[in-house]
Amino acid sequence: YIGKKQAAPILLRGLEKLEYRGYDSAGIAVRENSAPDAKINIVKAKGRLKALLEKTDCGRAVPGLCGIGHTRWATHGEPSELNAHPHCTDDLSVVLVHNGIIENYQEIREKLTKSGYRFYSQTDTEAAVKLIDSYYKQSGEPLTAISQAMLRIRGSYAFAMMFRDFPDSLFVARKDSPLIIGQNGDGCYIASDVPAILDSTRTVYYIGNLEMAQLTAGAVHFYNIDREEIEKEPVQIQWDAESAEKGGYEHFMLKEIHEQPQAVRDTIQSYLNEQGEIDFSAASLDDAFLKQLERIYFVACGSAYHVGVAAQYVLEDLAKIPVRVELASEFRYRDPLVPENTLVVIISQSGETADSLAALRKAKEQGAKTLAIVNVVGSTIAREADYVFYTLAGPEIAVATTKAYSAQLLAVYALAIAFAQDRGQLTDDQAAALVQELESLPGKMERLLEDEERIQWFASKQIAAKDIFFIGRGLDYAISLEGSLKMKEISYIHSEAYAAGELKHGPISLIEPGTLVIAVATIPSLFDKTMANIREVKARGAKVLCLTLESMAQEAGKTADYVLPIPETHPLLQPSLNVIPLQVLAYYAALARGCDVDKPRNLAKSVTVE
Ligand code: AGP
Repeated sequence: YIGKKQAAPILLRGLEKLEYRGYDSAGIAVRENSAPDAKINIVKAKGRLKALLEKTDCGRAVPGLCGIGHTRWATHGEPSELNAHPHCTDDLSVVLVHNGIIENYQEIREKLTKSGYRFYSQTDTEAAVKLIDSYYKQSGEPLTAISQAMLRIRGSYAFAMMFRDFPDSLFVARKDSPLIIGQNGDGCYIASDVPAILDSTRTVYYIGNLEMAQLTAGAVHFYNIDREEIEKEPVQIQWDAESAEKGGYEHFMLKEIHEQPQAVRDTIQSYLNEQGEIDFSAASLDDAFLKQLERIYFVACGSAYHVGVAAQYVLEDLAKIPVRVELASEFRYRDPLVPENTLVVIISQSGETADSLAALRKAKEQGAKTLAIVNVVGSTIAREADYVFYTLAGPEIAVATTKAYSAQLLAVYALAIAFAQDRGQLTDDQAAALVQELESLPGKMERLLEDEERIQWFASKQIAAKDIFFIGRGLDYAISLEGSLKMKEISYIHSEAYAAGELKHGPISLIEPGTLVIAVATIPSLFDKTMANIREVKARGAKVLCLTLESMAQEAGKTADYVLPIPETHPLLQPSLNVIPLQVLAYYAALARGCDVDKPRNLAKSVTVE
C-alpha cells in the first residue's frame, strides 16, 4: 500500500484476507516517512499471522504510509523467519516480496556471489531482489533495473518492491503469478488476489505478463518490458468478498480444477534442475539406498490411493520395480511384510490423514525407508517421513481433491523417470523426451478445460441417474476409480469403478436399461477390448459415454452413445488428461443436483480421525 493512511494495518488486514490460501510465515516492510534517509522497518514471523500481529502490535509499531507485506507458502527453503518475505539487500536499497518460482535462481545466486553479494536465506526470492539491486546500482533507475531482471529471470513472479531512494513510490512486475492493483482516494494497493483489497476499493487494474508499474499515493503508471508507458482502464470488481476468494468461480472446486495446469507446471518445475532433468537432490534421496531398492509400496487413502494405483502401472512399466499399492487403513492394521530395501511412499494432500500417518509409522517400525508426497509444507507426514516431495498445488480448499491429485500424479511420473534412469531402464534422451512431454501437459489440460460446456451439457442430462459405472483397463482403470470417487463424493449419485474385464465376473448383472456407463478407453492396445465391453453393456440397455483419444474418437463413435475426445500424450502420462473431464462431469452433476460442491455432506477436507 502507498497513500495517506498508515500502511501497516492495511497490509496486515490484507494478509488476513489471504489466509485461506495457506502459508507458513509472514512479514511486512514499512518506510517510516518519505525523507531520503528514512528507515524501512522489516518485521517477519514464522507461523500464523497472529505472531506477526503481536510482533508489530497490530501494525502500530511500524509507522509509515508506504509498505509491502507477504504470507509465504514455502517452496525453496523451509518455513522460517529468515526465509519469510520481505527480502532485501544488505543496504536496504531494495526491499521485495514475491509470489512464484525463480527457476534459475541458483545460477543467478552464483553470479551475484561472484560479484560480492552475500545471501542470508535459502529462498529463490533473495536472488531476485539482489539481481534487481545489481542492475539498479548500475543505472540508478528502478524501472530499468526491473526490466533487465525480467529479461534474466526464468520462472514465475509477482513482485512488489520498495527502493530506498524512491520514497514516494512502490514498483511491481509480473509474469504468470496473479497480481492486481487497486486505487481509491486514500492511495494505491497491490495484491495477489482480490480479497486482500476488497474492503478498500473495487477499482482495480490488471497488469499483464512482463509488465511493470510504478505506484505513488495518487497515481499508477504501467510500462512494458521496454519501459514504454501503457495506458490501462480501471475495472470495477463486482464480486462479494466470499466469492472473490474463489477468484470469480462459483466454487473453490471449479477454481481448483482450472488451477490444475498451473499446479502441474509449478510441480514439474520444482523437480527439474538447471539442465531440465529430473533432480531429486532437494529431497536428498540418497543414491546408495536407491541402487539397492528392490520394491516400492504406495500407501494412501481416497484419491491419493488412486494415484498409487496409477503409480503401480507407471513405475513397473518405466522403472521395472515391483510395486504394491495398499489402502492406508488396511496397511496399518495388518502385519505387512516389509522386507529390507523397500521404499514405502505415503501420498497425502493434507499430510495429516490419520490412517496415512499411522501407516507411515508402521512402515518405519518395520524398518522401511519412507517417502512422503505431500501438498502441505511442514505437515505431520512431511515431517515424519525420511524423504519428502512437495506437490506445489497451493492450498486446496474444496473437499474433493483435484489439483493436488493432478500434482501427485506428476510427482509419481517424475519419480518413475528418475528411478528408470537410475536403473538403466531409460536413456538420457528417452528421459528428456518424457520430461518434454510432461511439460506439454499443462497446455493440453488447458485445451481440455476449454471443452467445459460440452461436459456440462452431458452432466446436466445425468442428474436422474441412480447408478453410474466407470470402467477402464490398465491406467484407464486407475482413472475410473478416481472418476467414480469424484462423482459419488460430491453428487451423491451411487457409482462404482470396475476393471472393464471384470464386468462379466458379476457386476454386469447390475446393468439394466438406462444405466449410465462411462468407459475410459485411451490405451490403443486395449481399445478393442474395451469396445467389446461397451457392446456388452449396451446389449443390456446401458447408455455409454466413452472417453478416448482424439485419434480414436471416430472409431469409438461407432459403438458408444457419446464420445469425449482427449488430447494425446505419452500413454503413461495419459491419466493427467483423462481425469479432467471426469472431475468436470462430477462437478456439474453435483451442481445440477443442488449439492454443496465444496463441502459435501459427511466429508472433511482432511480426515485426521480414524
Ligand atoms: C478425495 O477427493 C477425498 N477428499 C478423499 O478421498 C481424500 O483424497 C483422502 O481423504 C486422502 O486425503 P489426503 O490426500 O489429504 O491424505
